[in-house]
Amino acid sequence: MITTCTRKTLAAWLMAALGSTLGYAQTTIPLETRSTALVLQADDKKNLRIVYYGEKLADAGSYAQVPQAYRQTDDYSGVLASAYTPAGSRNLAEPAITVVHADGNTSLDLRYITHTRQEVTPQVALYTVTLQDPVYPFTVKLFYKVYSQEDVIEQWSEISHQEKGPVVLNKFASANLHLKAPEFWLTQYHGDWAKEMQPETSRITHGIKTLDSKLGTRANLFQPSVFMVSPGKPATEDEGTVLYGAMEWSGNFRIDLELDYQDNLRIVAGMNNFASAYTLKPKETFATPAFVFLLSHHGKGEASRKLHTWARNYKLLDGHGTRLTLLNNWEATYFDFNEQKLFGLLKDTKRLGVDLFLLDDGWFANKYPRNGDTAGLGDWEVNRTKLPNGVSSLVKEAANNDVKFGIWIEPEMVNPKSELYEKHPDWVIRQPAREEHYFRNQLVLDLSNPAVQQFVFQVVDKLFTENPSLAYIKWDCNAVVYNAYSAHLRNQSHLYIEYVRGLYNVLAKIRQKYPKVPMMLCSGGGGRVDYAALQYFTEFWPSDNTDPLERIFMQWEYSYFYPALATSNHVTAWGKQPLKFKVDVAMMGKLGFDIVVDELEAQELAFCQQALRHYNDVKQVIWQGDQYRLADPRQGSFASLVYVDPARATGVMFNYLVNNRYGEGTPYPVKLKGLDPAARYTVREINLLPGTSSPLRSDAVYSGDFLMKVGINPQLSTSRTSVVLQLSKVTP
Ligand code: DGJ
Repeated sequence: MITTCTRKTLAAWLMAALGSTLGYAQTTIPLETRSTALVLQADDKKNLRIVYYGEKLADAGSYAQVPQAYRQTDDYSGVLASAYTPAGSRNLAEPAITVVHADGNTSLDLRYITHTRQEVTPQVALYTVTLQDPVYPFTVKLFYKVYSQEDVIEQWSEISHQEKGPVVLNKFASANLHLKAPEFWLTQYHGDWAKEMQPETSRITHGIKTLDSKLGTRANLFQPSVFMVSPGKPATEDEGTVLYGAMEWSGNFRIDLELDYQDNLRIVAGMNNFASAYTLKPKETFATPAFVFLLSHHGKGEASRKLHTWARNYKLLDGHGTRLTLLNNWEATYFDFNEQKLFGLLKDTKRLGVDLFLLDDGWFANKYPRNGDTAGLGDWEVNRTKLPNGVSSLVKEAANNDVKFGIWIEPEMVNPKSELYEKHPDWVIRQPAREEHYFRNQLVLDLSNPAVQQFVFQVVDKLFTENPSLAYIKWDCNAVVYNAYSAHLRNQSHLYIEYVRGLYNVLAKIRQKYPKVPMMLCSGGGGRVDYAALQYFTEFWPSDNTDPLERIFMQWEYSYFYPALATSNHVTAWGKQPLKFKVDVAMMGKLGFDIVVDELEAQELAFCQQALRHYNDVKQVIWQGDQYRLADPRQGSFASLVYVDPARATGVMFNYLVNNRYGEGTPYPVKLKGLDPAARYTVREINLLPGTSSPLRSDAVYSGDFLMKVGINPQLSTSRTSVVLQLSKVTP
C-alpha cells in the first residue's frame, strides 16, 4: 500500500517536474496524502493557484484536468484561487501578503519559479515552492510538509528580498487555502476564564469572517486558533467532509475566511498583523509559523483521530511516552502552606497512590512574599518563612514517601510589587508614559529582550540544578499584554512577534538541556494551548473550571483537536457531583487530583485508590488508543465515548449523564465503534463504589459486531450518573 502510494506520488512528481523543465504551459503539483490531495498548478503565465483539495484520485495525472471541470466563467486566472495571494497588483480579495517596497511602492505580484520535493521520511515529504515578483527582487517560498499516513499538511512561508533598503511587511500569512463548494459551515470556538472552548457552528456568508486574537500572551483565551470547515453541510461525527485548521503559534493570530463573489472559500491564516508591521532588511528571511490542516471525508471523528495520531507521532513532546498522575495543592491550600503542611500533603500523595506531588503558586519571594496574587511574582527565591529548608527538603521528603515532586512557575510575568520590578523596570512590557494596567495584578516581561530570555531560562535551570530529581513543571501564564511597549526593541511593531519568538527560544533551550521532563502548559486555564507550544510541553491545562459537568463539555470539544494524553484533568472541589462522577470525568484524559485527601471518608479514599489502580490498567489505551465519540452531550442527556487500542484488543468506554431531570438515563444501548467485528469481548464495569455492584453482567461475551451494531446499555440513570466500562478481547 505504502509502496503503491509512494510510486504514484513519485510518478506525479516526475511528470510535474518534467513538465516544468520542458517548458509545458502548466505545472501541476499534487501534494498527496494517503486519502487526500491538495493540488497546486502554475498556469502558462506562472500564476500559482490551488486547483483542488479533496479526495485523492486514482490517477495522479488527472489532477491537471481539474480546472476543466469548472465553468468557463470561474476565475482561474490565478487571482482568486492564488496559492499565496499578493496585494496591490491584480488581486482585490483578502491578501496573504502586503508589502511596502524599499522604494515606497505597495504593489506585489508573485509568480511561480520552481519547486522541489524532499523526502523527510518515507511517510513525510517537504515541498518547497518558490515564487518571485517579476518586477522586484522579492521572493516568497511556500513550504508544505505532507504527512501521508495522517492526511495532515503543515504550511508555512519564508519571505525575503534583495531590495536596496528595508521592506515593510504589513501582512504575512502562513497559508492560503482555496475551496469550492455550494456552501460552507464553520465551527469556531470562543471562551473566557473558566468557560473555555465554547463551540459555535454557522453557515459562512459572503464577505470575510475573521477569527483572531490580539491578547499577545494567553492568546487563545477569548478565541482559540482552531476551527473546522465543512463544505456542503456540517459534518457529523462519522459522515461528511471536514477541514480542520489550527495555527501553530502562541501569540496573536488571524484567520480570515472569505467567501468571495464566485463562492470560493479562501482561508488566509497566520500571525496577526495587528500593530505588527514588520521591517525586513535585505537578505534577511522572515519565517512564518506553520498552519496545520487536514481534510477528512468521513466526519469529525476520523479527522480528530488523524490529528491525534499526528500529534503523538510528530508534535506533542514525548507523544509516545508515559505521564504522571499527581496531587496538586492549589485548591487544597491556595497560598496558605508551610513545610509541615506540605510534608503532610506528601504523605497524602503516597496514601492516595498517585505518582507525583505538585506544589503550586505561593512558594517564593521574601521582600514581597507571595501570599496572594498581588505580590512577589518574579522573585523566584524560596520563601524562607514558609519553607525555611528550601525546595530541596521537599524534594527529599517526597523521595522519602516514594513519590516524585513537581513545582509551579510563572516565569514570564511580574507583579509590580516585586524586587524584580524594582530592579528591572525596563524588562517589563509597559508604556513608560502611561498609567499601568494590570491583568491579575501583574504585567508581562519583555521576552523580546535576550536578557529577559536568559532570566526566564535561569528560573527553570536553577530549579533543576539545585534539585536534580525535580520531576515536573507547571508553567503558568496569567496575564495578557496591555500597553504594548518594549524598552529593548527599536521597532515597537515587532514586539508581539518577537515576544513569542523569545518564548520559543527559552523553551527550546530548556528542552535542549532537559529534553523530556514533563511540563504542563497552563494559562490561567486553557488560554494558550496550540501545537507550537506543545512541542515543548507534555500536557496542557484545559480550564480552571473543574466542575465535572462543565469539563465533560470542554474536554469533548478539546478532544477534537488534542489527544487525551495531553489533556490534564483534575478531581477538585468544584461541582456538587459525587466523587465518583468527578473521578470518572477526569479519567477521560490525564488524571490528577487537587483535593484535601485528609478530608476524604475512608470509603472515598478507598474508591480513589482503586480508581487509580484501574487507571494504571487502562491508561495506555486512553493515551495511545483511538478515540471514538459515541453520544454527544450537546445532543442528548448523556455523553459516551470509547478509546480502543490500535490492535483492537482492549478498550475503555466512558458514559456520563449530563441531564439530571426525572427519568433521564440511557433508554437504549449505545453502539460502540472501532472494535474488531470478528473478535469477542468481555465488558466489565470498573470504578464501582466500594460495596456496590454493577447491573451489567461481567461474565457475558459479545462479538465486536454485536457491540457495534446492537451496542451495550451502560444503564445510566439519575442514581448511576457515570459508568466506566473496560473492554477486553477474549483470546480463543
Ligand atoms: C492559574 C492556574 O490555572 C491555577 O491552576 C493555579 O496554578 C493558579 N494560576 C495559581 O496562581
